[in-house]
Amino acid sequence: MGRGNQHPFEPFRIKMVEHISLTTREERQEAIEKAGFNLFNLPADKVMIDMLTDSGTGAMSDEQWASLMRGDESYAGSRSSQRLKESVNRIFGFKHYLPTHQGRAAEGILATCLLKKGDLVPSNTHFDTTAANILARGGTPTNLVVEASADPNDLSPFKGNIDIDRFHQFLEEYHERVPFCMVTVTNNAGGGQPVSLANIESIHNICQEYNKPLFIDACRYAENAWFIKQREPEYEDWTVESIAHRMFSLADGATFSAKKDAIVNIGGLLLMNDDKLYENAKNELIMREGFPSYGGLAGRDIDAMATGLIEGIDEGYLSYRASQVKWLHDELKDRGVPVLSPPGGHAVYIDAGAILPHVPASEFPAQSLSIEMYLEGGVRSVEIGSVMMSFISPDTGELVTPPLELIRLAIPRRTYTESHLCHVVDTAVAIVERAELIGGMQIIEAPEFLRHFSARFDWLNRTQTFC
Ligand code: F0G
Repeated sequence: MGRGNQHPFEPFRIKMVEHISLTTREERQEAIEKAGFNLFNLPADKVMIDMLTDSGTGAMSDEQWASLMRGDESYAGSRSSQRLKESVNRIFGFKHYLPTHQGRAAEGILATCLLKKGDLVPSNTHFDTTAANILARGGTPTNLVVEASADPNDLSPFKGNIDIDRFHQFLEEYHERVPFCMVTVTNNAGGGQPVSLANIESIHNICQEYNKPLFIDACRYAENAWFIKQREPEYEDWTVESIAHRMFSLADGATFSAKKDAIVNIGGLLLMNDDKLYENAKNELIMREGFPSYGGLAGRDIDAMATGLIEGIDEGYLSYRASQVKWLHDELKDRGVPVLSPPGGHAVYIDAGAILPHVPASEFPAQSLSIEMYLEGGVRSVEIGSVMMSFISPDTGELVTPPLELIRLAIPRRTYTESHLCHVVDTAVAIVERAELIGGMQIIEAPEFLRHFSARFDWLNRTQTFC
């Protein structure tokens, strides 16, 4: 079938290839049963197109591989840590930073330093690891994203924004229980949707009014800055780098997973202006992660991060990146697969709730659909619905559920070509065509926190897998 949309020109060529194992449906059936119907439990060689995450799965450049070779493994004060310092200071501009092995380590340290039982932390939408780090310390993560975020067809340009009125009211009512505020850019759990600079300015002003520090979850800050340049007219002539500076100048610190917009396989940062917080965080880091010059990473990883941070703000690359995500979104939409619009920065989100209206949230429609995508075409996606996002609020004791049941097709950076994504589109179309035969799932066993990583599932009605 002909493709209606133009796939973007890749601003790179392939120098090294990685083998993909081709599997049959029978092999996949056996593998997924063994994995307890949890895509996280699958051996990667049973996956043909891996869209589980864009985190740590991108292709490093020749310059980054050269950085690995150049990595200085000195325990303290390595040349690689000096290179990291230059990149970090160039992009973020906070007074202090600490390297961590990945984003959640930075979140864990921040939560340990600032949170106590009964606290509330507002954000647009906390990602699962951030929410878990807050919950694990007796706090409650509160999501205050704009209403448009819950409507997959609302084409507002900044569906990751915080609802400013609700945010203001929230701080007015609860400010004594709020140690810090957050905003996630882009809003991963809400479709990879961007947050506008106008919104970050308003969040900043309200935080100032109540004297609360603001931390940016900056995992995909470069993609967010690219959207600001495209969609917020005031900034169309700004560089992505200067937009990033403006974003970070409005915050008191940030958590960062370098596995996303720094295009490395491992790494993270905790950034802040406050001297006392820095001292406390440094002690935590030394206890758990490592000395502040390497923070749980090898010198070579630090070096690759220093290079990747600069590549991540290259506007030719960012244009290709956003266009590839849009291409997948448009192809799926044109062929009748309900997707969250407009496309986000790192992934396309399929609206499982719309495809399986006969499966209630309590029977995990997005989990079910993600398993069908695997069985049909060997495509590994991730559920972002009631399995991943629901939790019992320590504050109210009530079950908090997400507004949408989504499956996310995350696109690893610089990794897959048009024909790979064509296969993904054909797989999704085949599933939509037999959607009424697909039923719900049940959880067989699950841990208390972050259950999507290790829970085991089964079909509610086992006959459907043979349709
Ligand atoms: N914040 C956001 C918005 C994220 O997307 C992630 C990770 C983290 C924090 C934690 O970073 O993995 O380095 O510890 N997201 C990955 C994903 C896992 O698939 O979206 P990490």
